[in-house]
Amino acid sequence: MYGHCVHLRRSSIERATGSTALKDQGGDDLVLPRAAPLDAAIVPIPLRTARLVLRYLTPADAEAFFAYRSEPAVALMQGWMPGSRAEADVFVGSVAGVPFARRGMWSQLGIVEAGNDALIGDVGAHVDASGVVAEIGYTIAPAFQRRGYATEAVRAILAELEAAYGIRCFTARTDPRNVASITLLTRLGFGEERRIGDDRHFRLTV
Ligand SMILES: CC(C)(COP(=O)(O)OP(=O)(O)OC[C@H]1O[C@@H](n2cnc3c(N)ncnc32)[C@H](O)[C@@H]1OP(=O)(O)O)[C@@H](O)C(=O)NCCC(=O)NCCS
Repeated sequence: MYGHCVHLRRSSIERATGSTALKDQGGDDLVLPRAAPLDAAIVPIPLRTARLVLRYLTPADAEAFFAYRSEPAVALMQGWMPGSRAEADVFVGSVAGVPFARRGMWSQLGIVEAGNDALIGDVGAHVDASGVVAEIGYTIAPAFQRRGYATEAVRAILAELEAAYGIRCFTARTDPRNVASITLLTRLGFGEERRIGDDRHFRLTV
């Protein structure tokens, strides 16, 4: 096991035939991510948790997505908000067909409660080009916050990314005023790594 995230050059990955063929920068054996083809959609979607279903977004979600993403308390804490319903349509349409966790691309899943298909939030993941590190993002509609839903959804995403692809390094960025997000990340075991501009960057290695 390695204690920090390591990006491997593609040639290194291709040369490596065993799980301990490479050393990290500290000289420790490097456990390579399992050689799962990240471009194949092997994370089972929909993903079910105790109370939630994480599923692909569809055009029918755009109205609910626009409603909660444009609430000031939500929009203030995020780098992007849909400026209009039309923008929400475009965003939802653009992510609806993207397989979850494809390398080098953001992918987004909708969050619904089990037994009710109405959208109550969304969670995103960006697996880096090397397939080693995944950045995550998350939003829960205000009416559904503080029920542990973000914790449940993000935990499921992290577990699936590890199980399916061997990803063990996760990052997240948040506004320093975003107490809810920082509390969530801390609860999930993330530690603060650095500040860049106004953003606080968090990292978890499992
Ligand atoms: C951040 C966010 C996703 C948390 O969603 P949530 O479903 O309410 O989170 P959870 O219920 O799983 O709570 C996680 C932890 O955060 C705490 N928390 C949640 N909202 C909080 C708030 N407004 N103030 C302080 N703590 C808060 C919870 O109490 C819990 O901690 P605890 O277990 O120690 O009590 C939600 O507040 C949100 O969508 N905010 C707007 C969008 C956003 O900021 N996204 C993240 C951008 S980086």
